[in-house]
Amino acid sequence: MILEIAKAKKFNEEFSVDADKSISHRCAIFSLLSEGENIIKNYLRAEDTLNSLEIAKSLGAKVEDEIDRIIITAPERIKEPDDVLYCGNSGTTIRIYMGLLAGVEGFFVLNGDKYLRKRPMKRVIAPLNEIGATIDARNNGNLAPVAIRGGELKHFSYKSRIASAQVKSAMILAALNTNGKSFYTEPFLSRDHTERMLKGMGADIKCKMENGEWKIEINPLKNKLNPLNIEVPNDPSSAFFFAVAAAITGSKAILKNLTLNPTRIESYKQLEKMGAKITYVLKEDKYEPLGDIIVEGQDLKAIEVSENIPWLIDELPALSMAMAVANGISRVKNAKELRVKESDRITAVVENLKKCGIDAKEYEDGYEIKGGCVKRAEIDSFGDHRIAMSFAVLGLISGMKIKDAECINTSFPNFFKLLEKITGFGIADAD
Ligand code: S3P
Repeated sequence: MILEIAKAKKFNEEFSVDADKSISHRCAIFSLLSEGENIIKNYLRAEDTLNSLEIAKSLGAKVEDEIDRIIITAPERIKEPDDVLYCGNSGTTIRIYMGLLAGVEGFFVLNGDKYLRKRPMKRVIAPLNEIGATIDARNNGNLAPVAIRGGELKHFSYKSRIASAQVKSAMILAALNTNGKSFYTEPFLSRDHTERMLKGMGADIKCKMENGEWKIEINPLKNKLNPLNIEVPNDPSSAFFFAVAAAITGSKAILKNLTLNPTRIESYKQLEKMGAKITYVLKEDKYEPLGDIIVEGQDLKAIEVSENIPWLIDELPALSMAMAVANGISRVKNAKELRVKESDRITAVVENLKKCGIDAKEYEDGYEIKGGCVKRAEIDSFGDHRIAMSFAVLGLISGMKIKDAECINTSFPNFFKLLEKITGFGIADAD
């Protein structure tokens, strides 16, 4: 699918974006550890999270799909599926399920699309094998398909070198299936939905920040967890595309009902540093703080981003679009992880910006962008939803043609409709 974007006028609009992807995945996966009915409202119905739900079904969960909620009931024991578990494009699905299934008796094969099959899995497979799991994969145990012979796991003390919520979540789930207390440390706090949700479901997990490191103590499950009763907040990473749209067109966007978890809204703080006016309206605090974010565009200036990278990793492509029109040279550093996301996002951002006439340079761990005059171009999504949506937003200034835009459906199927609100007639499928 080719997406044609036309220039937008100034706007003043409310956006209720799709539900949070990270929290939706966890609802499907964590339900399998519970007893009773998990009631989930506003579950994200996008390709990635529907794959997580399908896998829960293949493992024996009963899923009742109602208009305003889904109800998930776990099986007495997770069952061995009779086919490969398909994770599509989703790193979160494959990595978190690995942690869950490593300690469950049975044989499980996880696979994904051609993009996921290129992404590193050793970061989860190696620590799981160290604690007694039997997991193998292509390319010397690094690339999907991944085969798991589930069995007994040993409790552990593991210090991760990377701040990754996917690795952390996999290890926490594995720890729940061992026979003693486990400890997990990450060098910087990554998104903490797993800790919050599992604690909310009754798991014995304690967390603390010590000398900048995030330390988690996990006790094995004695009983099944309490079921979830949750309304998934809207996704601040998805909403950020409209924050940038407002910032670069001098408009106003009111972004409704987002999780305001600090690990998820750092990109808004960076946009504020660039000159946008941002207001946070806290409305509720249950599993997560929840509220609205209001963004008003003003002249933007360049910034350097080299800290809090794990809190920005999904939003850096969109933030780069603001950098492309800001006054001065912006730099992103210490962000090598961008190379192993749904695409190599360093190359994808830089190559595509150059096509739009913007002066941009790649570093091994980031890039440099000199703000300038954006021209209409035909850009490649590299099969990456966040690259496609970022350049769609940049297109609001210049017009833009985006190849392979169907990947947007992996996380944000409503993106097209919401974008139409501000482009009017300006969005068309050229295929
Ligand atoms: C996610 C964690 C992040 C993020 C991804 C979703 C999650 O990945 O990029 O989109 O839901 O746990 P890493 O934990 O690998 O950094």
